[in-house]
Amino acid sequence: MAGYALNYLALAAREVEPVCRFLGESLGLPRADIVVQGRTIPFFGIGQAGLAVFDAEDAYLEEPRYPGVHHMALGATEPAACAARHSLPVTSAGAGPDGKRFVVIDPAATVGIRTRFIEPLPIPANAGAAYKIDHLGIATNDNDGTVRVFTNNLGCPIQSTQTDIEIRNVTESFISDKYGAVYHARPPQILGGLRDVFITIGDCELELLMDYDPRMKPKDQLGEQEGNTKGDQSAIAKFVARRGPGLAHVAFATRNIDALLPKLAADGWRMIDVVGRPGGRGSKIGFVHPANFGGGLLMHFVEPQVDGGYGTRQTD
Ligand SMILES: [Fe+2]
Repeated sequence: MAGYALNYLALAAREVEPVCRFLGESLGLPRADIVVQGRTIPFFGIGQAGLAVFDAEDAYLEEPRYPGVHHMALGATEPAACAARHSLPVTSAGAGPDGKRFVVIDPAATVGIRTRFIEPLPIPANAGAAYKIDHLGIATNDNDGTVRVFTNNLGCPIQSTQTDIEIRNVTESFISDKYGAVYHARPPQILGGLRDVFITIGDCELELLMDYDPRMKPKDQLGEQEGNTKGDQSAIAKFVARRGPGLAHVAFATRNIDALLPKLAADGWRMIDVVGRPGGRGSKIGFVHPANFGGGLLMHFVEPQVDGGYGTRQTD
């Protein structure tokens, strides 16, 4: 296989218990805890990767520590040699989960994406409503630099690219009781958008999310709300401004999002979406509210476009 595969994703939570209840009980992911520096850490299998749930203050997580997606660990049988082979500077090394050797790569060398190489941990067999990680959302201001690291250097292939734009169309009408109606359409106005690149890391992708055009800000606030393209652009820009580029969210693949989202709401989880809306790569997506987990940890679901067709679809 080309490149490297995600072995586990480290989630940092203000409240660990609800994250475990969400992953284990509501999504039905199998749990096989790991031991890190003498502490038992909840560990769930999803597809070919694991989700390790840490307290946001856990000492295994290098600083700065804050709730969210903390780091990703790529599998490598010889972590230190692997980093050296790719000329990636290492800031620390040690024995991590279940004694597996790991190295921490300097985030300055990976455009802010906190990355480790680790001797692969075994992943619990799993199948269910969330059958794999679909992607890791990366807030960035440098798609090209990120591609140079993960594709040119590490050999992880580009899966696809995409540009999302929110456009405002204004039409004026001049309606006379005597001369009839004249309609004048103004040129479409771009409110904002994102440039996306998807890079494959095992059975999921990194989704790079970059401002369509940073020069356009501050821009008309019209149309900006949680859950649309303009709102997404604004959220990415704010993330980069606050924390710098890096891991912003995790998305899980499901086969029927319009069944899963209401089920999660019925389980008592606060949802941003209870109906799937248009997402990247022809998919439908729906977000879970971070408040369920004490804030900061953003997760969403994706129902991928199964036929992989290339064409035009109209959505509501
Ligand atoms: Fe996403």
